[in-house]
Amino acid sequence: MNLLEVRDLSISFSEPTGTQVAVSELNFSMKEGEILGIVGESGSGKSMTALSIMGLTSAKTKIEAETLTFNGIPLLSLSEREFQKIRGCTMSIIFQEPMSALNPLLPVGRQIEEVLVRHSQEPGRKDRVIRMMKEVGLPRAEELYHQMPHELSGGMLQRILIAMAMILQPKLLIADEPTTALDVTVQAQILRLMRRLNTQYETAILFISHNVSVIRSICQRVMVLYLGYIMEAGPVEEVISRPMNPYTLGLLKSIPQPKMKDQPLYNIPGRVPPLSERPAGCPFHPRCYKAEKRCSTELPPLVETGDFQLRCFYPVKDDER
Ligand SMILES: Nc1ncnc2c1ncn2[C@@H]1O[C@H](COP(=O)(O)OP(=O)(O)O)[C@@H](O)[C@H]1O
Ligand SMILES: [Mg+2]
Repeated sequence: MNLLEVRDLSISFSEPTGTQVAVSELNFSMKEGEILGIVGESGSGKSMTALSIMGLTSAKTKIEAETLTFNGIPLLSLSEREFQKIRGCTMSIIFQEPMSALNPLLPVGRQIEEVLVRHSQEPGRKDRVIRMMKEVGLPRAEELYHQMPHELSGGMLQRILIAMAMILQPKLLIADEPTTALDVTVQAQILRLMRRLNTQYETAILFISHNVSVIRSICQRVMVLYLGYIMEAGPVEEVISRPMNPYTLGLLKSIPQPKMKDQPLYNIPGRVPPLSERPAGCPFHPRCYKAEKRCSTELPPLVETGDFQLRCFYPVKDDER
């Protein structure tokens, strides 16, 4: 049995102007202990996907799916009360901005302990928190326990959030741009920590980032999302060394390369449109160098071949990479 099974997930908002679709026909699954990446520019629907799995969307968000099961539980039929029992326990989430996820007026150690209180864990709570703080590489954990969020650096705060997310040894950790706000050195440390926790606790990680290099350094498989559609998915090394969708190629060409440091950095032309301006046909066609007439009227189907998925009528050829 897969840990997470997502079949035909769509996420939309009812606005006064009509329904706006953020995510469409999303299909993927995760095995226990696996690290799956979701990559795509801002506005691709990555966070909405994460929030939908966690049951953290607002009332105006409509989530539909043929299947949305976690650990055998159909998530769409859970009440908020039932969701609270699994959230923070068997599945947890960390975000880009640790400061906004923390209470500024409560010592950080107490905030980690709150997770244990919420899930009725009794004996030795404080010791458990301190052990977990050490586990995520926080120095002087006993003292740090009593400190306020503003006294900690961004990297330390992210470690607090990771401790909070991991203290009950969840089966799934969703990390939504967890290193985006951090500088490169701290980013590398946090990625190392997450890799270690993944091995140690066999926690599966759904790792979300707009940064392909970060995805490559931690994930086994990757799913490329654009305007709520999977454009391409497969084992990370294969997708990166041989991108088939022009969008994936664009994302890869936008990464700074040390050996090309004198040349201007490539940018995918145009920008991600707001949901109200979603183009017909392939969502990426207005920005795509390979687009033909057909791409503007017909949505390419997502074709599965073994471990790979591809949505494109005119895939990238070898000499275009
Ligand atoms: N509460 C909301 N109401 C309406 N539109 C929203 C809401 N939240 C997000 N969106 C829109 O949904 C799209 C996907 O957003 P999001 O999942 O946050 O993208 P990403 O995380 O990939 O940057 C964006 O166009 C965003 O503006
Ligand atoms: Mg986001």
